Amino acid sequence: MSHSTMLRSLSQQLLRNNKNLLSAAGVRQASAVSGTNLKDVLEKLIPEKQKEVVEFRKRKGSAKAGEVTVDMMYGGMRGIKALVTETSVLDPDEGIRFRGYTIPDCQKLLPKGAKGEEPLPEGLFWLLVTGSIPTQEQVKAISKEWIERAALPNHVITMLNNFPSNLHPMSQFSAAITALNSESKFAKAYAEGVHKSKYWELVYEDSMDLIAKLPTVAAIIYRNLYRDGSTPCAIDNNKDWSWNFTSMLGYEEPSFTELMRLYLTIHSDHEGGNVSAHTCHLVGSALSDPYLSFAAGMNGLAGPLHGLANQEVLVWVTKLRESLGGEVSDEQLRDFIWNTLKSGQVVPGYGHAVLRKTDPRYTCQREFALKHLPNDPLFKLVSQVYKVTPDILIEQGKAKNPWPNVDAHSGVLLQYYKMTEMNYYTVLFGVSRALGCLASLIWDRAFGLPIERPKSYDTPHLRKLVGDS
Ligand SMILES: CC(C)(COP(=O)(O)OP(=O)(O)OC[C@H]1O[C@@H](n2cnc3c(N)ncnc32)[C@H](O)[C@@H]1OP(=O)(O)O)[C@@H](O)C(=O)NCCC(=O)NCCS
Repeated sequence: MSHSTMLRSLSQQLLRNNKNLLSAAGVRQASAVSGTNLKDVLEKLIPEKQKEVVEFRKRKGSAKAGEVTVDMMYGGMRGIKALVTETSVLDPDEGIRFRGYTIPDCQKLLPKGAKGEEPLPEGLFWLLVTGSIPTQEQVKAISKEWIERAALPNHVITMLNNFPSNLHPMSQFSAAITALNSESKFAKAYAEGVHKSKYWELVYEDSMDLIAKLPTVAAIIYRNLYRDGSTPCAIDNNKDWSWNFTSMLGYEEPSFTELMRLYLTIHSDHEGGNVSAHTCHLVGSALSDPYLSFAAGMNGLAGPLHGLANQEVLVWVTKLRESLGGEVSDEQLRDFIWNTLKSGQVVPGYGHAVLRKTDPRYTCQREFALKHLPNDPLFKLVSQVYKVTPDILIEQGKAKNPWPNVDAHSGVLLQYYKMTEMNYYTVLFGVSRALGCLASLIWDRAFGLPIERPKSYDTPHLRKLVGDS
């Protein structure tokens, strides 16, 4: 083993040990957060964190956190350290950690549904908001609260029922969320002159209400478009958030509910700079209420380079199947992928702005498939695409990350359970993304973050600034 390889392996080992310790410390911390009411827990936590940030900024407020180059400014701000997001951090090689916990950590530590093996998204939300792994009771309390807050105002139902069937499900989803702002407690209290120190409480209330209502909004859209407008079943007090969602969609297979618990957990958050999270944070900084802020984020998620990629992957794989038939050789697959690239398109589901390895959200969905649908032909095809694509993207030499992301796998699982309507997939992503965006929005207001307003230049000014005139 060469010296540098040895050093690298040693430092990776140290990093792993350190991270294991971190996780262990986090789990111990969880038992210290008592009570099942999330707002009460936050009420205790927020002053401590506010103090920490005030003191940190006093000590280090003028310390430099990085540099900005001209390329970064023209290059989509890639790599600029410019945002504070408490809920998760994305490591280019390792993938996402939610409050310090990896996806496998969450699968192991977060409470499960009755007879289930996958984490409940309610627990992930608790973790994102508080930083601690919740108990079964705390998660049960969230499920109960979301059931109590789930009712939709009539005008939103009427609006959804009147949308034309050619309006994309994501447009319907975003419009309904915007219209739900008739219910905003934040907007009402703001208009009445509420004190700034109370903002987080009102954002919390709106966030809990909105998350509770999203499955019903999403189910109405689904049934209007694909189930002849039939009404979703009533919410059942004994089911968790995901289970009620799958029932309202009309899917009763327990392993589909398990998939949805996993899906809604892993799509929730991907640190703060991605389009949906950043948009929600930005719009929220203008003190637009959580409904308006999150709807703005959903319009970003609807873009094909972001959340819509899960739809694009399935469209692409379907074309692949149509043009090459059932069994496909690696050689045929390579030709198809090269043709995609030569026609100036991206291979959907591959590449990432930050990640430089296979996305752990891809890996855990692959593991789900290996467990529940190992012989599914579409799963086999997607696995074959995984085998072939990275080498082609490396050979082409453009994509900085040739590995698959979350969207490369999700559609296959949905297809297996007969949810074949690809246009709908991004709505599921959106329901999940609410957990991360809104947990962050609560902390944005708890920290009293100001309106976001970075400086921009035109090219002549920028050239002058860097001495190029
Ligand atoms: C995710 C994505 C938008 C990141 O964009 P990015 O940070 O600009 O990515 P890179 O820096 O690696 O891009 C460099 C070049 O490689 C290309 N590239 C990146 N991913 C590619 C892919 N999957 N297929 C083909 N080309 C790709 C880019 O289009 C860009 O080409 P250009 O120089 O001609 O403009 C990009 O990888 C992509 O379009 N992937 C496919 C869509 C997708 O899966 N989105 C979901 C993300 S979770």
